[in-house]
Amino acid sequence: ENAQLKDIISHAKEYGFVYPSSEIYDGLQAVYDYGAYGVELKNNLKRLWWETMTRTRENIVGIDSAIFMHPTTWKASGHVDSFNDPMIDNKDSKKRYRADVLVEEHAAVFEREGNQEKADELTGKLAKLLDAEDLEGVKQLIIDEGITCPISGTSNWTDVRQFNLMFSTQVGSVAEDASTIYLRPETAQGIFVNFLNVQKTARMKVPFGIAQIGKAFRNEIVARQFIFRMREFEQMEMQFFVRPGTELEWYESWAEARMKWHLALGTPKEKLRKHDHEKLAHYANAAMDIEYDFPFGFKEVEGIHSRTDFDLKSHQEYSKKKQQYFDPEVNQNYIPYVIETSIGADRLFLLSLCNAYTEETENEKKRVYLKFHPAVAPVKAAVLPLTKKDGLPEKAREIVEELKYDFNIVYEEAASIGKRYTRQDLIGTPFCIAVDHQTLEDNTVTIRHRDTTEQERVSISELHGRIAEATSF
Ligand code: GAP
Repeated sequence: ENAQLKDIISHAKEYGFVYPSSEIYDGLQAVYDYGAYGVELKNNLKRLWWETMTRTRENIVGIDSAIFMHPTTWKASGHVDSFNDPMIDNKDSKKRYRADVLVEEHAAVFEREGNQEKADELTGKLAKLLDAEDLEGVKQLIIDEGITCPISGTSNWTDVRQFNLMFSTQVGSVAEDASTIYLRPETAQGIFVNFLNVQKTARMKVPFGIAQIGKAFRNEIVARQFIFRMREFEQMEMQFFVRPGTELEWYESWAEARMKWHLALGTPKEKLRKHDHEKLAHYANAAMDIEYDFPFGFKEVEGIHSRTDFDLKSHQEYSKKKQQYFDPEVNQNYIPYVIETSIGADRLFLLSLCNAYTEETENEKKRVYLKFHPAVAPVKAAVLPLTKKDGLPEKAREIVEELKYDFNIVYEEAASIGKRYTRQDLIGTPFCIAVDHQTLEDNTVTIRHRDTTEQERVSISELHGRIAEATSF
């Protein structure tokens, strides 16, 4: 892990954003908990996504489906058969790795050294072997390239095996009639199996979408890079049902709409890029990722996939229940095609944190602050009485009362005003409102702006409008 990511991880922990799960027992790999500011940030991101999908568009509605689903769901979706990764174990360290990732990382070293040709050759070979499901070939490539285990440093590898990423558990009274069910590895299938329920009960007409935010679980083997790849995570997915033949137009327009959304959240254009998939998943006829330039390089944040009628058709086959829609405009029954946008809430959280984390040095003094878009900032304003006496705390409390029903506000009176500003910078609060003696005379306060540290005098009656304007999205 590189130095910048390390700084961000320790900042996230120290200032109440993200902790390792069950940390007193030394944590649980690839599982994390969100702290006081983390949960606010994450909820803001989820709310903005939800509002964009379901409020600003008339033809998208939401659902909240269960994590447990009928086991046949995962046969129909293809996850039982093909949600597999090629895994390899190092016999010395006893560590398990994704074989394809080992090769990709090896190629990335050549890329960094400027040997693009060799890097491309390696990734090309790997893609061919994976396409052909030639697991022995993948192992041979690892050996030929002299790829060693990052822990033991040896190349004492086992064979490459397919490993299913779904977590399973039992329902029913143990032993006897227990049956195996899975924790959903994506939220999308909860949308597909409810397609007709929603279409009929919300009286939707194609083209229309169904959005959902919820937990998903994957037994990821390569669990690294903090909350980038977790075993328990949250997805925000939207399936958009369209008339067959129109899907590629919708695919383009969704890709554009999603990119615009990221830009509106304040992510700089040069830190985002679209990446078309070279190798399409079994269900897709077009697919791309929106990638962000994380401290560890450009990596996927969101996927946009044209899933054809694969899922609905497959559920129709397995369930023997028609999954068709009657389109009055063309007077036809058909299984709609689907464009999916799928983003991890945790990954968007990491993007937001990386993008916000700012270190500045002025007059040899380092200042660290989180430059969140005010709409996602965990705390919108801190109200700070200059001293603890002369009625300033009471006046400050009045301001808190006026604002707290609409915004997440904190009140703080301990420590010097400078220290309190610094503390708010570290959690990314866009506004600090200082209450001083003049406030008692003329009902004005000082607003201190996080990014510029500039201060201005405004009247208390303006505060609500100012914060509302800055935090709107
Ligand atoms: N329904 C399509 C689907 O699940 P995916 O590319 O496997 O597609 C979509 O996942 C998004 O979910 C990814 O772009 C990423 O943001 C997030 N995601 C996937 N696996 C994740 C993991 N292990 N940890 C955190 N986020 C993950």
